[in-house]
Amino acid sequence: MNIKLQLFVYIFLTVPLFHHASANPLANPAIKSPDLVGSYRQNCSHCHSGSAPSAPLIGDSAAWSLRLSGGFNQLYHSAIHGIPNTAMLAKGGHAELSDDQIKILVDYMLLQSKVSAKTISQAMKYDAFNISDREFILLDINKNALLEKNELQQEIAFLNGLTEFDSNRDGKLSPIEFIALRSSLETKRQSSNVSDDEITNQVNLALSKLQGMPHSGIRVNTKNGVLTIAGVIGSNQLITNIQQSIRWIPGIKSFDNRLMTSEMLAFD
Ligand code: HEC
Repeated sequence: MNIKLQLFVYIFLTVPLFHHASANPLANPAIKSPDLVGSYRQNCSHCHSGSAPSAPLIGDSAAWSLRLSGGFNQLYHSAIHGIPNTAMLAKGGHAELSDDQIKILVDYMLLQSKVSAKTISQAMKYDAFNISDREFILLDINKNALLEKNELQQEIAFLNGLTEFDSNRDGKLSPIEFIALRSSLETKRQSSNVSDDEITNQVNLALSKLQGMPHSGIRVNTKNGVLTIAGVIGSNQLITNIQQSIRWIPGIKSFDNRLMTSEMLAFD
């Protein structure tokens, strides 16, 4: 064969192969190893087979399908690094496990939960977008790597900034456009000149409008723009709601979140 043709054939055959080479992680024979059952029991089962009310249970196909819809990488990332403000600590609290061991445990949990072939292929498709921003992934309900109006409804600040940051005018935010919008909002919030007392007042006002807040025991304090909220509250969901309600209050430079749920305390 002539060298040009050889090169052409080589590129033609291998490039697409590399691009589609990612194999279904759940087809990996390692996740059927009996050793894994022991490792799962030792490291993950006390929450994922029972006692942490907000942990997705192993075997709960619907719960895991929903989580997997943002891709495998996203699940590996949160299993390895933890999910802030939840009982899901980095590596489930087992720092001695390697990243690869954690990934295999996640695959094991997904296999046991019998997620469908369709969910798996959608997850692989999402992974191909190579998006690492957790907030973007969670907002992207349509799983098309773009944020549309209906997906931004729950965060009015994002919806309002859509037009300005939609640089290619397609009516949607790409990950880059979204991150630019979010950091612009953050910069605006941080650079507003507001006294610490005024910030504390605004935060207390926002908290007073939330449902399920305990009547006492929550401490709000601001010093040089750094807001601290401390105390024990009922649920992870309430922590999320609190974060959302104070997120764009002008003047807050950073948020030191010392809120705990009783669930987090139980596994400390
Ligand atoms: C102390 C309790 C606890 C232990 C131990 C624990 N988890 Fe979790 N895990 C949770 C909770 C709670 C959540 C749900 C957090 C949320 O989204 O609110 C969770 C969520 C997850 C998720 C979903 C992440 C996502 O992005 O949606 C994965 C994957 C996961 N855990 C893997 C593991 C693995 C692997 C282990 C063992 C090495 C483990 N967990 C041990 C409590 C635990």
